[in-house]
Order: sequence, then C-alpha cells, then structure tokens
Amino acid sequence: MKKIILATLNENKIKEIKEILPDLMGYFSSPQEFSIFHLPEEKGKDYKENAYIKALFVCEKTNLPSVGEDSGLEIKFLEGAPGLYSARFGGDIPFSERIRIILEKMKNVPWDERIAEFVCNLAIVLPSKKKEPIFIEGRVKGYIYWEPKGNNGFGYDPIFYYPEYKCTFGELSLEEKNKVSHRSQAFLKAKIYLEKVIKGEI
Ligand code: IMP
Repeated sequence: MKKIILATLNENKIKEIKEILPDLMGYFSSPQEFSIFHLPEEKGKDYKENAYIKALFVCEKTNLPSVGEDSGLEIKFLEGAPGLYSARFGGDIPFSERIRIILEKMKNVPWDERIAEFVCNLAIVLPSKKKEPIFIEGRVKGYIYWEPKGNNGFGYDPIFYYPEYKCTFGELSLEEKNKVSHRSQAFLKAKIYLEKVIKGEI
C-alpha cells in the first residue's frame, strides 16, 4: 500500500490529522515507524519553509511522499507572537508556563484587542519532485481568553476562544475542533493532492 509520511513527531497532531481525513488514515505513517526520532531544527524564515524542511528531510530518509506541517498562534496585540516560535516561546518551559506568560502580558488588554489566529502550513514533498513542494495554508480566527479553560486538545488550546462555539478549543471534543481548526482547513484542502498521490496520479 502506498504510504504518506506525516513529518511531525507531535502525537497530538497525528491524531488530529488522522481524524480530519479518516478515509486516508490507513495511508498515513509517522516518522517513528521508519525509525526517525529527530527532525531538523526549525530554522526557516516562515511556516512554509519550516514545513518544507521537515517534509524534505523525511522524504529523503524514506523515499516516500511526505507532508510537513508547521503551525503557530499569532496574537495581534503581541505583534504576531508567539507565531513562528510558538513551540519554543519562553524557552524550555512547560506549556502551562507559556500560557501564564502570555496571559500576564495580556492582563489589561480589552476583549476587542485580544484577537488571535491559529495558522497551519503544509508542504507536500514527493520523491520525484523534491524541489517542487505543494504549499497549503489553513487559518482560524479567535480571541485569547482571560484564563485557561478546558482540558482537551494540546498546546495553546485552553486559551484560544472560538467565538462561534462560545468556548475555548480546550473545551471542544476532537471532533468539534476538527470541524473548524487551522489544521483541518489545511488538510481538507490537501486532500485532493493526497488522493492523487495515493492513486499515483502525481
Ligand atoms: P510546530 O509546528 O511543531 O513548530 O509547533 C507549533 C506550536 O504551536 C506547538 O507548540 C503547538 O503546541 C502550537 N500549536 C499548533 N497547533 C496548535 C493547536 O491546534 N492547538 C494548540 N496549540 C497549537
């Protein structure tokens, strides 16, 4: 069976992606299944480049089609931070601490100015076209909530308030998050290409 490698070591992302595209679930593999336990440092200038760095690395190691994923949270009041540095914001500290730092910086910021966006960029790299990646982006708008709420999801989900659902992503089931998230928007757009890869059409 044709395999597509999801070039991420984040189990939460893999779980979400498999549920976003259940029909393709059986085709997806993780880098660990190919004894890849480290991905290159994210030194790209933007999400696209980081997604490409990860996908290219995995594609070169496995000689299989690979999808790199790079995502982040952009907070308008913080001029787009943590953004590209979402995974490393504040240094080597637990996520609860990252959230605490953000909430402290936004302590007196009124609701209207708490606008934020989750961003997800994909790079699909094929063994025959390593220098011609397909780039795809998904975004979702929300607000930074006053305090962490909910125990679901991962990362910044407990402080990302989604107005249409009137709660944070941390309070949503995986199924509900996947209906609207940045990751689901990106992977749903990618579906058409991934199906073609599986059928050997590209
Ligand atoms: P990277 O894409 O591996 O560089 O990591 C992106 C960072 O943004 C991680 O630390 C995630 O926790 C955070 N992030 C990305 N997507 C989500 C999400 O769907 N929910 C919460 N945090 C996220």
